[in-house]
Amino acid sequence: MTDLSKTATKGAIIIPAAMESEEVFGCRTTPLVKMDTGTTSIKCQIIHHEPGQTLAVHIHPHSDDIMLVFQGCGEAFLGDAWFEVGEGDVIFAPEGIRHGTRNRTGSDRELVCYNWQVGMALRNGALGAAPDQASEDQSRLATPADCLKEKTPPPASEGIITNVEQGALFTGYGAEMRFVVWPKTGSHKMSLHKAIHPPGMAFREHSHPASADMVLAFRGRGEGYCFDGWYPMNQGDLLLAPRGVTHGTRHPGGGDPEPFICVGVGVPPQLDLYRAAGYL
Ligand SMILES: [Fe+2]
Repeated sequence: MTDLSKTATKGAIIIPAAMESEEVFGCRTTPLVKMDTGTTSIKCQIIHHEPGQTLAVHIHPHSDDIMLVFQGCGEAFLGDAWFEVGEGDVIFAPEGIRHGTRNRTGSDRELVCYNWQVGMALRNGALGAAPDQASEDQSRLATPADCLKEKTPPPASEGIITNVEQGALFTGYGAEMRFVVWPKTGSHKMSLHKAIHPPGMAFREHSHPASADMVLAFRGRGEGYCFDGWYPMNQGDLLLAPRGVTHGTRHPGGGDPEPFICVGVGVPPQLDLYRAAGYL
């Protein structure tokens, strides 16, 4: 289900193989959600790093940025240093904080990251702000002599490197959820949550009055409800539900013992959920 013609009112389940790729900052990039898919301030894309490739260190003057390591391992730049990252790691870079990612030379696997950005309306809007900028000292940062620091998160206001296994626990919907990136980690424009569906479990149809929701099938197989029915979701597919569009996710059961694990990005963060969870 990759019909993007009515995304703003009906949402969509976006299948990456149906989308065209382009090159951005040195890596093959597959746009999934952008302005012409019905959102004005949200972007989601897949960034593919072949062995030895670097997504240049850069800043977004008016956008926050989240990277999720979907496959492989490599290194992520945040603030002023490179950090080792692997599958499930999440890099949150607020506006103005330098960041980048790279796969190691000699690696035998592609490093694949899902990337969400919010705030492009400012960049492309009446304010006429400067475009995203590659860092001027990228060549120095990309040399093998770079110091690889331990994966210790910097203060939240300068961004954070964390993992989908970490974060504030919420079980109010009957299964484990983790608030991984959210206002308590310094993110005020968007949030990233993990949700586990054991066999047969559903996050039933719902809509968010103030937030858009982008739900990635991170591991396993399941189904996504989008506007008018349930559709299959395979690993890597993305359900886009703009504000007010009914959506849900579920494990279809049927003897599949593997959990269906989703990563959802909300724009803006869903404060009603945090209130229900007792964190606010
Ligand atoms: Fe939702």
